[in-house]
Amino acid sequence: MAHNYSLNPRQLFFFEHGGMGESNGFHIKKRSRNDSPPLIDPTKLPIPDQDFIKHRNDADKYTFTGKRDADLLRAALVRAGVDDQQGPGNFLEFGCAQARVLRWFADWTQHGEGWGVDLNSAMIFWCHQNLSPPFHFSVSTTIPKLSFEDHYFSAIFAMSVFTHIDDLYLSWICELRRILRPGGLLYFTLHDEEAAKIEKEGEFAPHQRRVKSAVYNEFLEQDSDFCSVDRDWRSLSSFRREYLVDHLSNYFEVIEFVGRALGLSQSAVVLKRK
Ligand SMILES: C[S@@+](CC[C@H](N)C(=O)[O-])C[C@H]1O[C@@H](n2cnc3c(N)ncnc32)[C@H](O)[C@@H]1O
Repeated sequence: MAHNYSLNPRQLFFFEHGGMGESNGFHIKKRSRNDSPPLIDPTKLPIPDQDFIKHRNDADKYTFTGKRDADLLRAALVRAGVDDQQGPGNFLEFGCAQARVLRWFADWTQHGEGWGVDLNSAMIFWCHQNLSPPFHFSVSTTIPKLSFEDHYFSAIFAMSVFTHIDDLYLSWICELRRILRPGGLLYFTLHDEEAAKIEKEGEFAPHQRRVKSAVYNEFLEQDSDFCSVDRDWRSLSSFRREYLVDHLSNYFEVIEFVGRALGLSQSAVVLKRK
């Protein structure tokens, strides 16, 4: 489909993704309301129907990978000083989709607000319907601006989101920094030279669109800092670690890089807001 950049960013996303699958409007189903305490056992929270689990087409895999990625994230935040029982206070998953990872932090909502945002309103409405309480959700846009006040969160995480944001990646990092309190933690997964090495060693099938791309191969050969394969909602972004450190260390303390933090190849970086 040809791009039409006169559409606003969310319309553009909708257009290309099929959005809610409705061209004539939509409705949000009535939620069941009761006074029982919110569920905080993540194994009891609803999971999306099979046909609605994007990219991960079975429920067991959805649960297994969500827990694995969440455990690595939780361990990194705890190493960086978060109390495992109490959590960090208010926290946000940026690009949460259907809360594959966020759901594993339901216990932390007893001590702070747990929020999820995503561009994909169908997914966010599902989350709103099924996972709120204990969590809060809102739909965001591709414009690097979120509707939270400054310093609202103590921890923010983004799982396989900065692997798909192209030229606006620094603007988004700045926006996430704005809503983090000083000393708050930002954890995001990325495709970097370590992930490229794991892919090259052939442990599992690499992303064909990435490895076949001339831009990506130039990025590797020329030790470039950043690369985006394609420039649309399917963008595949890669960073060089040194570049991120150079670029971000004025605004964040770089606490650590975590290897194999998501999907067996993506790394993660843990940053503390200055
Ligand atoms: C590969 S999926 C990962 C979903 C989820 N984090 C997980 O690990 O299961 C990337 C998600 O990021 C969302 N996304 C991409 N760019 C975004 C942006 N600028 N703002 C909010 N969400 C974004 C997409 O809609 C999609 O749900």
